Amino acid sequence: MQKHTTRIFVYAMSILLFIVSFLYPISDNVFASSKNEYYNETYRPQFHFSPKQNWINDPNGLVYVNGEYHLFYQYNPFGNTWGNISWGHAVSKDLVHWKHLPVALKPDDLGMIFSGSAVVDKNNTSGFFKGKKDGLVAIYTSSGETQQQSIAYSTDQGRTWTKYAGNPVIKNPGIKDFRDPKVFWHDETNKWVMVVAAGNKAMFYSSKNLKGWAYMSEFGAEEGAQLGVWEMPDLFELPIHNDPKKTKWFLKVNTNPGGTKEGYRSQYFIGEFDGTTFKNDNPPDTVLWTDYGKDFFAAQSWSNVPDRRIWIAWMNNWQYAEKIPTNPWRGSMTIPREVTLIEIPNKGVRLIQKPVEELKQLRKEKYMLKNQLVIPKTNLLSKIKDDTFEIVAKVELDSAKEFGFKVRKGEKEETIIGYDAVENKLFVDRTSSGETDFSEQFPEKFEAPLSPKDGKIKMHIFVDRSSVEVFGNDGKAVITSRIFPSPKSQGIEVYSIDGNVKLNSLEVYDLKSVWKNNE
Ligand code: FRU
Repeated sequence: MQKHTTRIFVYAMSILLFIVSFLYPISDNVFASSKNEYYNETYRPQFHFSPKQNWINDPNGLVYVNGEYHLFYQYNPFGNTWGNISWGHAVSKDLVHWKHLPVALKPDDLGMIFSGSAVVDKNNTSGFFKGKKDGLVAIYTSSGETQQQSIAYSTDQGRTWTKYAGNPVIKNPGIKDFRDPKVFWHDETNKWVMVVAAGNKAMFYSSKNLKGWAYMSEFGAEEGAQLGVWEMPDLFELPIHNDPKKTKWFLKVNTNPGGTKEGYRSQYFIGEFDGTTFKNDNPPDTVLWTDYGKDFFAAQSWSNVPDRRIWIAWMNNWQYAEKIPTNPWRGSMTIPREVTLIEIPNKGVRLIQKPVEELKQLRKEKYMLKNQLVIPKTNLLSKIKDDTFEIVAKVELDSAKEFGFKVRKGEKEETIIGYDAVENKLFVDRTSSGETDFSEQFPEKFEAPLSPKDGKIKMHIFVDRSSVEVFGNDGKAVITSRIFPSPKSQGIEVYSIDGNVKLNSLEVYDLKSVWKNNE
């Protein structure tokens, strides 16, 4: 009898479990129980893109189509250092939450799949998309014995790709470093334009169908910072924020200095592009940096986004990229930023970068204040702790020589995001930020020139588990920096040195994680 009851009990429980598993799909259950495990390793960015595992570098093939932002990226599917380079793939509807998709392009007989871009071939100029809408074409570098440009196409929103049988579409012209094609449609001259890095300059090609390309011109051998070879060019036209009837062309390239101390950085030129040649507005020796930190490399902008220009970069630096202490993944992207141009009197046109509006959805109000003095040796934020947060501060300069925020503060570590009011410089000091000894080229203080506006400095700061990004005076100066503090270091301090400053307003937001197990 007892055996019988036990059997009925077991049957009843199985049926109940069966029903429950329908009501709560198993993946949700797993997610609920492992909520604290997914994307929660030490140093795992909570609101930046990173792959689940393995190595990534440059963002590639950024294109917006059918409500999705595509993010392809340089990816090693087999390990945590550079190699076997393929295009990894993720999509997002809001630039904030990302869904991982299978590897999009794998190495072939022509070589590895180095960096490149993607376009929507709306009018089927390539002939790949008869009767199909929104066909995508990826233009990338095949890196084998030489570097050449190849294409692939997708008729299913980037989910699967077919490599063009006629690859390469541009054979190597005898230049060792010949890579990273960025392609866009040039309306005025009714053709596709490619800008591609070629040694220490950029070369421009044109095409009617994305398959046949003709050389047009080149720019840069004697311009800007020449620290080695150039990489990852991007070229686009933007209205000038404070004079919207006027537009300028913006050309960005990265400098790859080999082994020199300068580090890998990102410079830009402002000028004119007539469909054939780019002309620099500034004298050739003018050097303009996009970001004054060391961790904003290989930025690329999305193509086909209506009404705004957004870019994202690899948040790392080749000097120590393979040594940063993260596992089982290595590499992440910056937050996406909207880029605009501004005319600064007596200086010229300059780049402005702002965090995209979509990031505001992550905010949870934490601490707000208005009109309060910051006095040396006090800390208005002594009660707050956090490792993923945003600070928006408007500060009126007073007698202080320096002021700012110390974040990810622990017993022996802190990252200082400050303003030097004597030298007029925004800075990030990561010399005591936590783990720094994996590379001699990591512990550093980064400075960006920034003048007060009406006696005020604005700081907009994003702190994640292993990074800080600071935007000074509405994006006029930006510093991006990886840091590797202990997970326990969560103190925050607002400080001033040798005098006071007045916080006109201070907003601190805790930021929600964008990761949940949706695979
Ligand atoms: C820039 C870069 C590109 C190249 C890719 C290889 O970081 O060196 O020039 O295409 O990385 O992964």
